[in-house]
Amino acid sequence: SKPSVFITRKMVPDIIGNLKKQFEVRIWDSEEDAVPPEILLEEAKKVDALFVTISDKIDSSLLAQAENLKVIANMAVGYDNIDVEAANSKGIAVCNTPDVLTDTTADFTFALLMATARRVAEGAETVKQGNWQSWSPLLLAGHDIHHKTLGIIGMGEIGEAVAKRSLGFEMEILYHNRNRKPFAEQHLGAVYCSFEELLERSDYVVCMTPLTAETENMFDAEAFKRMKDSAIFINTSRGRVVDEDALHKALVQGEIAGAGLDVFTNEPIESDHPLISLPNVLATPHMASSSIETRIEMMNLCSENISRILTGRKPKTLVNKEWLSVKEDIGGLS
Ligand code: GLV
Ligand code: GLV
Repeated sequence: SKPSVFITRKMVPDIIGNLKKQFEVRIWDSEEDAVPPEILLEEAKKVDALFVTISDKIDSSLLAQAENLKVIANMAVGYDNIDVEAANSKGIAVCNTPDVLTDTTADFTFALLMATARRVAEGAETVKQGNWQSWSPLLLAGHDIHHKTLGIIGMGEIGEAVAKRSLGFEMEILYHNRNRKPFAEQHLGAVYCSFEELLERSDYVVCMTPLTAETENMFDAEAFKRMKDSAIFINTSRGRVVDEDALHKALVQGEIAGAGLDVFTNEPIESDHPLISLPNVLATPHMASSSIETRIEMMNLCSENISRILTGRKPKTLVNKEWLSVKEDIGGLS
């Protein structure tokens, strides 16, 4: 019988069609609701491939029961929803979707920065609610973006793409990262700093770092205290990089001026969460990579990776490089 694939969300028909030509395909066919964990587990026990999203938790207990599983294709660049070490120990390939979403995610990060600084959502709401009474000198006066200092935490591909965009606004670019980035320093004029110095000097602190044991809660009370009281914090990476209680306190006490947040500790965040009611918070529903073109490319890449692995070929993108070296040692890939 054909190898089988379980897809945890509704995808565009072309993608499903391509997979169906080669494999037995089952789908949790919902646009709105994530697959219930017990159904995901039942499928994981049977299938050769899982096509998942960041709302699906692929932990070691699920993987321990996934007897036939060969590949997990995650429709995201981040993969903190997957226990990669457990997948490794079972010889399961983990694939993500880097590169195809870089510019789209950087565009949105810059849009969120600009919208937060210039109060775009408040302005739109003012008009929509019929509250625009007259032109007035300080009506919705925000913060300038041009010629300010941008601080990027996590200078990967997306961080560099954000830095590129800021050049048009003649911003000064600071960055902090595990490794120095010679390209960004030489070609974008980005200046490396310690985390602390970046926080103290930046007008915009933009978080782009992946969620790992090292970065969890790195934006804590002390970090927000270090920032300028005029600083704006932007997060399009993962919510758990931030201590949300500390962020709330910093915003209420005026330790920072505002925040643009696309990601949260618990998603979806409740509309009555204390952060959401603050006038100086602009919150969006984890949509930074969501352009039609890019979401289709991400689906395609997941589908391609699954096809390749189930037919004994190298995937286009792979998180656990260990998987490849083991397969190459046994001469099992073309
Ligand atoms: C989305 O959050 C992603 O990691 O691609
Ligand atoms: C955080 O700064 C990182 O290491 O990317």
